Amino acid sequence: MKAMDTLQIRIKNVAKGGNLVEQLGYAQVRCKWSVERLAERAGLDIRTVQAVQSGRGSVASLTAMLQVLAPDAERQEVAGSHWTYHKLKDSERDLRFTPPHILAALTAAFGPIELDPCSHADAPITASRKIMLPEDGLVAEWASEGLTYVNPPFSHLQPWLAKALDHFEGGEIGKLVFMLPASRLDLKDFAFRASNYATTVFLKRRFTFVSPNPRFAHPVPFTIALICAGCDEADITQFCRLIPGMVMAPQQSARDVNRELAQL
Ligand SMILES: C[S@@+](CC[C@H](N)C(=O)[O-])C[C@H]1O[C@@H](n2cnc3c(N)ncnc32)[C@H](O)[C@@H]1O
Repeated sequence: MKAMDTLQIRIKNVAKGGNLVEQLGYAQVRCKWSVERLAERAGLDIRTVQAVQSGRGSVASLTAMLQVLAPDAERQEVAGSHWTYHKLKDSERDLRFTPPHILAALTAAFGPIELDPCSHADAPITASRKIMLPEDGLVAEWASEGLTYVNPPFSHLQPWLAKALDHFEGGEIGKLVFMLPASRLDLKDFAFRASNYATTVFLKRRFTFVSPNPRFAHPVPFTIALICAGCDEADITQFCRLIPGMVMAPQQSARDVNRELAQL
């Protein structure tokens, strides 16, 4: 149990309590079981149960007790244990800037960035128009004939994707490259909108964002995808020559692109 505390392993659906020992105590009270009864139900001897109750005992004994005291118990995600998927209280803390080598490949393939709607003064990005807090990029009007590049706060993805697609479908922006974790392609806006007309590039290599926050000082721990709408196939291929990627396109021709890229 000490190890579980050290590793910040938390179990939910047990009972109230500040730690697992307290939770087990409350769960036992809820069941109205004596130690003897608990030992019998868990298939353990009484001393083993007492060891677990005092914060010692093996994981196997603990598991046996949890199975009878709280059959729905399961591991709880630890807030902050995975750097992208917890809700940030302050969007200013999501300072994950696109690294220069990705920016260079984007502009080489798709042309200069005209609009960065969620930018930052410290981001190494060059764009004709940068929308920065306190101006709200989710409220501002977006307009650009050239490339709109969106690397949104990953903690608040959906409204950014919806707005980017609204403006692309409305013709206010001509070319869109939208960065997100590949696992978030489960968003309905991707499934029912973007996937019908956009090509998606999965970056093969993990890279490290530029950030003043040490939390982001490591290569991104998941696959990054770029949703590319209104982009020429040849430009996407060019990008993937510079930054190796796998292409998923709505057109039949995606097969040819992937075949070519596999040769690189
Ligand atoms: C992941 S960073 C990307 C920065 C830059 N676009 C880049 O790619 O390097 C997301 C940025 O969005 C900014 N941001 C968050 N909410 C915003 C909003 N409502 N309007 C404008 N910018 C916002 C944050 O300040 C943060 O710097």
